[in-house]
Amino acid sequence: MSSNKASVHGQWSSRLAYILAATGAAVGLGNIWKFPYIVGENGGGAFVLVYLVCILLIGIPVMMAEVMIGKRGRKSPSNAVRALIAEAKAKPFWRLTAWMGVTAGFLILSFYAVIAGWAFAYIFKAGSGEFVGKDAAQIGEMFGNFISNPHELMFWSFLILAMTGVVVAKGVQKGIEKAVGYAMPAMFILLIVIAIYAAKYGDFAQAFNFMFAPDFSKLTINGVLEALGHAFFTLSLASGVMMMYGAYLPKETSIFKSSIWIAIADTVVALIAGLAIFPIVFGNNMEAGAGPGLIFQTLPIAFGQMPMGILFGTVFFVMLVFAAFTSAIALIESSVAWLVERYSFRRWQAAMISTTVLWLLGVGTIYSFTEASWTQFTIFPEQKTFFDNLDYLTSKLLLPLGGLMIAVFVGWVVDKKVAKEEIDLNEKAFKLWHFVLSYVAPIAIIYVFLHLIGLA
Ligand code: PFF
Repeated sequence: MSSNKASVHGQWSSRLAYILAATGAAVGLGNIWKFPYIVGENGGGAFVLVYLVCILLIGIPVMMAEVMIGKRGRKSPSNAVRALIAEAKAKPFWRLTAWMGVTAGFLILSFYAVIAGWAFAYIFKAGSGEFVGKDAAQIGEMFGNFISNPHELMFWSFLILAMTGVVVAKGVQKGIEKAVGYAMPAMFILLIVIAIYAAKYGDFAQAFNFMFAPDFSKLTINGVLEALGHAFFTLSLASGVMMMYGAYLPKETSIFKSSIWIAIADTVVALIAGLAIFPIVFGNNMEAGAGPGLIFQTLPIAFGQMPMGILFGTVFFVMLVFAAFTSAIALIESSVAWLVERYSFRRWQAAMISTTVLWLLGVGTIYSFTEASWTQFTIFPEQKTFFDNLDYLTSKLLLPLGGLMIAVFVGWVVDKKVAKEEIDLNEKAFKLWHFVLSYVAPIAIIYVFLHLIGLA
């Protein structure tokens, strides 16, 4: 078997196209919605430092392993892993590596589309001046009313999924590459615009200090664990995404160099997002540790009071939708490719089936924010709604476990020679990568995993 042949689904037209698409997959709600609020909750600088170490030490090596599996197998994750299992004459058990990822990615997208739908709706709320002159209580009430209106939310998540389905149905080059080619540069420019606005009208100095002056007394063990978990989430690891995009890699593209670029771009966007959001938060004397509502409740209060807040509030949510959209595309692609491979569907049929199932699953998340009694259930400890349980199952169980399996599979099961053929590193660097993947990453992940489920 060689990795030189293209995938049946297509191939990226260039190295740059791949980097853009994979960066689009990585940069999303995780960077702009989640990263700032977990930095806020965990006290700033020291957490940022640990997060950066996690990206470098575990995120990048695991990303390389995933892309390598995809590039070698040239198919959707389950069939790519199957090909590597055959080559290594390993047990079918390892197919779980792919299945856990694809399942996690699919479940994540079901709620990701709902949150992206919130952002979509907020474009219009910001644009019509709904935040202007409102105080914290009024904005809170507005948010509360908004998320307790299921039919409206179903409409917004439908819109996000429909757009995602249309792009993916068009294929790798004509669909994904083209959409990402517009959305990513636009998103980046809008982010810079917001950051400049924030620096001008907010308290940039305090924000900068908060993010980059580490105060280790504020760092807890839970913060360390959260940083590692977020490294997985933000780089789209263990969710089928990087394996799938790796399957479309042109043969001459360097897995090492492109992974570094993707990780740098993703990290830079997260840091700029922090530098765009915190000056606005501090400049308006608000709390950095507001939690998941930071973007949907705290920021609108600020935009409602600031000069040109209508314009820049709108720009902010447009930017957020672009970022979420390119990640949603990536999250659905492995399911679509698998349906095409397994049942010989056409892409548009596979896209339609996937988006419909996702939309229906998303209804569970939508009702989690309303009073409906059927979404009030607990599978995992302390998780009270459908959404809480889904988030727990994916982010806290499937992603770390999936990451562990990928590291062990490539580190211990796949023949070193095979990995060496795909990963373009010199002898020394390859050994280092292999060591990190075989020992450092699994041990760190096992530790985190045990801690997350309360056993360590
Ligand atoms: N990496 C993207 C984000 O940070 O929003 C999207 C994402 C992909 C999140 C895959 C989680 C995941 F497992």
